[in-house]
Amino acid sequence: MILNNDIEKILISEEQIQETVKRIAGEIDRDYAKTGKKLLLLCILKGSVVFIGDLMKHITIPVEIDFMKVSSYGRSTKTQGTINILLDLYRTDLPDTDILIIEDIIDSGKTLSYLVDYLKLKGANSVRTCTLLDKPERREVDFTPDYCGIIVPDEFVVGYGLDYAEQYRALPYVGILKPMVYTK
Ligand code: IMP
Ligand code: MG
Repeated sequence: MILNNDIEKILISEEQIQETVKRIAGEIDRDYAKTGKKLLLLCILKGSVVFIGDLMKHITIPVEIDFMKVSSYGRSTKTQGTINILLDLYRTDLPDTDILIIEDIIDSGKTLSYLVDYLKLKGANSVRTCTLLDKPERREVDFTPDYCGIIVPDEFVVGYGLDYAEQYRALPYVGILKPMVYTK
């Protein structure tokens, strides 16, 4: 495979990601098989689209999908702190629905801790979280996901849905950018 010119190194290979996705799908299948409620995979746009696309193919129990969009980094690599809902969830079936939030990466923890509270207030039967990547060193609020793919070091990563200035989402692996990219 030809490495993208802006990538310093591959942190997580395509194969490792695919193994991880299958492992998480198995855990979700096992845990939600007999709940008697509807399972809704809630994709947080845009970073989680690649992950949810792969994950849902490996889940064998019935699922629905939906989308929310919350404020993101913009061009900066620092977290913003305040969460703005840019696309909300409009459903009338939340009391019969178990929501599993699908996230690309957890950094400060602010996005997911806010969303869990928000969706519980909206009346979902249950709200849990699933992230492909986690950077626990960066936590600013106490938050632990229910399903976690891979722990990553405190580095800004791109690929497999994750962007820097809207670029690199289509890479099939997760990599670290060359420092020169930030100073362009
Ligand atoms: P938190 O609210 O600080 O946990 O931020 C989580 C969000 O920040 C994720 O959904 C990503 O959109 C973004 N983010 C955090 N770290 C990275 C990274 O290394 N690369 C790309 N996006 C990131
Ligand atoms: Mg995101």
